[in-house]
Amino acid sequence: MLRFIGRMSAGLIRRLSASRRNDREKIFTSYDIQSCLYDVRRVELFQEAIRAVVKPGDVVVDGGSGTGLLGLLAAQAGAARVYCVELNKDYIDVINENAKRNNLQDRIIAIQADATTVRLSEEVDVIISEVISAGFFYEPQLQIVANLKHFLKPGGAVIPYAMENDVQLISAEDKLYGLTFSYDSRFRTLPGDVSLTERATYLKTTFGDVAPQDFGIRETARVVATRDGVANAVQIGYRLQFVEGGDWSSEPTDFLLNPQIVFLDQPVDVVAEQECEIGLTYQASSSPLTSTVTARCVDNPMTMLSAEEERSVKRELVPAPV
Ligand SMILES: C[S@@+](CC[C@H](N)C(=O)[O-])C[C@H]1O[C@@H](n2cnc3c(N)ncnc32)[C@H](O)[C@@H]1O
Repeated sequence: MLRFIGRMSAGLIRRLSASRRNDREKIFTSYDIQSCLYDVRRVELFQEAIRAVVKPGDVVVDGGSGTGLLGLLAAQAGAARVYCVELNKDYIDVINENAKRNNLQDRIIAIQADATTVRLSEEVDVIISEVISAGFFYEPQLQIVANLKHFLKPGGAVIPYAMENDVQLISAEDKLYGLTFSYDSRFRTLPGDVSLTERATYLKTTFGDVAPQDFGIRETARVVATRDGVANAVQIGYRLQFVEGGDWSSEPTDFLLNPQIVFLDQPVDVVAEQECEIGLTYQASSSPLTSTVTARCVDNPMTMLSAEEERSVKRELVPAPV
């Protein structure tokens, strides 16, 4: 949610955020979950994929099930059994009630558990999970899919199938209602945001291949500046491929495919046509407030070493042991 934390320094916000990290806020409240349920375009994208992938008689797991919506759609598409795994215990009754109302109670199994560690009693044909946000910030999509994959039959499918994250430098609006606020992350663009560079893809994920080593994100992207300005933030966007070989979706719905604006510790001057390097280091599912995002722009990209080149130069500079 767009939060304004007046008069707090970025450093204080980062510390507060870090101290609340392992937390109940991954659980959606009944207020939050309405954003999912009534985002019609989002649900249509999933419904279309579920209808294309789920076959009559399939066993399905829905990781981070909320109201059971995506699991119910899988049962409606013919799944014999759907495990709806949800962390928030209040939703277990909701999932069961929704199954009953739709006469799907014999096929829906609601489990109150952490989908990043839950053990299923049988293998599944399809994993569905929508615990997604730009850059994999906040929500444990990667961790959930990596765990549920242990129970996926050979040749089984994951919905969505793939995700690509991109990044660009922007001059982000930092005044609202005539006031200046000290907040340093938000999940929507504001009219005063100005793009200063092209976008570059920095992370390509096929969900069926996710492994624990993917949770620590350490990537570098190169982008060319399109205009002069002072970059004080990066804008991270993403696109989703719901089924293998299918179209990519990038148009934001109310709740899905929205960008994440992450402010830089140090603003950088950008001149059109310079080449800029953006460094992104963070843990998937953590808050952007605990990430390290850096940028530098130069006229002659030949002077800019890649992170790997820099490491190798440093290695060469270290004298060999005698
Ligand atoms: C974005 S909502 C999606 C809900 C539902 N799948 C839908 O599409 O409407 C994410 C849900 O995942 C749940 N959740 C978050 N982390 C979880 C975890 N580690 N294990 C199980 N559920 C989790 C939240 O409580 C929330 O209900």
